[in-house]
Amino acid sequence: MPLLPVCPAADLPPGARRIVAHGKISVGVFNVAGAYHAYRNICPHGGARVCEGPVSGTTLPSPVYEYNTGRAGCILRCPWHGWEFDLTTGEHLVDPETRLKRIPVELGAATAPCPGGASENLERFPVELADGQLFVRLPGA
Ligand code: FES
Repeated sequence: MPLLPVCPAADLPPGARRIVAHGKISVGVFNVAGAYHAYRNICPHGGARVCEGPVSGTTLPSPVYEYNTGRAGCILRCPWHGWEFDLTTGEHLVDPETRLKRIPVELGAATAPCPGGASENLERFPVELADGQLFVRLPGA
C-alpha cells in the first residue's frame, strides 16, 4: 500500500479538510473533532467529487412542524444532489441497503462516531501520522 502525503498535521486543524490526489485517485482527508478520516472523492450516487461538498450538521428526527438540527461538523453533503454522509463513518444517512466497498480506517486518535450514525458508506482509507506529517495509505500498488 503506497503512502500518500497529505500535509503537516498542524495544517489540518479540527473542521478542516484537504483533498489530495495520487494518479487518478482523489482522496478527501477531514479532521472531525481531532480525528482524521479519509474517503475516496467519489459519491456513491452519481460519481460527484463528494469530498468538495459542504460540511455541516443535519436535520434530526423531529415532531411534525419542528425542525431540530444537530451533529454540526459531522456531515458531508454531496454538492450534486445533496446526499448526506457521516464523516466519522462514511455512512449514508438514509438508505442502509446500498453500500460501497469500505476500507477500515486505522487511526491513533479518537474514532468515536458522532451520535446518530446510519449506513451507506463512502470508501475509507487509513490515515497515519508520522513526524507531524499526515499520510493516507492507499490500497494496492
Ligand atoms: S452524485 Fe452525489 S448525491 Fe448525486
